Amino acid sequence: RTSALRQIKVGDDDFGLMGYDPAFLNTANCKSAITYIDGDKGILEYRGYPIEQLAEKSSFLEVAHLLINGELPTPKELEQFTHLVTHHTYVHENIKAFMDGFRYDAHPMSMLASTVAALSSFYPDAKSIKDEQSRSIQITRLIAKMPTIAAFSFRHSMGLPYIYPDNDLSYVANFLAMIRRIGTATYKAHPVLERALDLLFILHADHEQNCSTTSVRTVGSSEVDPYSAVSAGIGALYGPLHGGANEAVLRMLREIGHVSKIPDFIKAVKGGEGEKKLMGFGHRVYKSYDPRAKVIKRVADEVFEVTGKNPLLDIALELERIALQDEYFVKRKLYPNVDFYSGLIYEAMGFPVEMFPVLFAIPRTVGWCAQWEEMVKDPEQKIARPRQVFVGSKRRDYIPMDKRA
Ligand code: ACO
Repeated sequence: RTSALRQIKVGDDDFGLMGYDPAFLNTANCKSAITYIDGDKGILEYRGYPIEQLAEKSSFLEVAHLLINGELPTPKELEQFTHLVTHHTYVHENIKAFMDGFRYDAHPMSMLASTVAALSSFYPDAKSIKDEQSRSIQITRLIAKMPTIAAFSFRHSMGLPYIYPDNDLSYVANFLAMIRRIGTATYKAHPVLERALDLLFILHADHEQNCSTTSVRTVGSSEVDPYSAVSAGIGALYGPLHGGANEAVLRMLREIGHVSKIPDFIKAVKGGEGEKKLMGFGHRVYKSYDPRAKVIKRVADEVFEVTGKNPLLDIALELERIALQDEYFVKRKLYPNVDFYSGLIYEAMGFPVEMFPVLFAIPRTVGWCAQWEEMVKDPEQKIARPRQVFVGSKRRDYIPMDKRA
């Protein structure tokens, strides 16, 4: 790929070697011991544990402990961690008032990003980022409050009253209750759906130096508080090429409308010179099947048994089948990614598409926090400040207004 290298140090006023690597395609931004990916082999491991084993055997809060602290928790540690997270789920009443100020049709992801940023004004102690105990409290607060703020965003966008957390419920069941409850009746999540969402949260918890995590690290490297850094991550995740992709997948499947229209759609993608993409396909790192997509496909079957099949599933399956045999996609190593099937599950569970990136942000908060903690503790970390290759005008003199054509 394009690379512009200057000669090494040709004078005292020259800073020496500079690489040109837009979007960091070949540049490591940090050392990390959290998540390992082998994109060619389709391997994903959290702290050395294969994602398939964690998906099958663990729970989301267990994985959160693993990612943040480096080890699987003992039963006692998990109990303490769960207790801590569960008892920080409430938000200040003024957060509610703050959220009331959003337009009635505000996108939940936009509300989430702004409200998480606002948390920094509620917890001024978060500025003490050198203090390990303070960092730990902020991380607990972020993981605990994210489902509450996410549910409030949803309720606001539906014009429904906010539901307070129920600390007797599990992390996921509590979130579902805050989303679903109508009136005073207790909402009891279906155990299959509760487990499916917990599993989806595990799969989305971390993915090393993706766009949003890099944003958290970049903003965090200025030593700002973690709420401000995480809100930058939410902003990055909001984009259609990142966390907005599963929303885009459903829109695409609806646009296709019927399996008979798939060949025409694929032809338009191939002939569009990159203008039109097959959403939910391709990945910067995976050049084989995304291991998370494999697990999600299995979960989809379990969920659809409870909810009934999503009518768009047939289009998705056929689209995948055709694309995986098409030379265009084969040559470019474009396979389904995590977002290809997740949206279908979220929709079957009754979530509107606007909530899809929010459902991604809740678990990814764990990864952002783990990566932020690692960065803060790294003695080699400096403020992120890339260089540029300047391609603008050479020095020129100011032209007075009356002399400009
Ligand atoms: N559909 C059609 N063609 C594609 C797709 C796609 N989904 N993805 C990449 N290509 C093509 C590109 O046009 C390019 O073709 P060319 O070589 O003829 O120019 C080639 O494949 C290489 O693509 P790049 O854009 O260089 O790949 P990059 O690594 O920069 O992009 C990305 C990765 C952003 C994920 C891309 O594949 C994409 O936009 N996919 C669709 C959006 C999506 O599903 N995003 C979710 C990613 S996973 C996540 O964030 C959790």
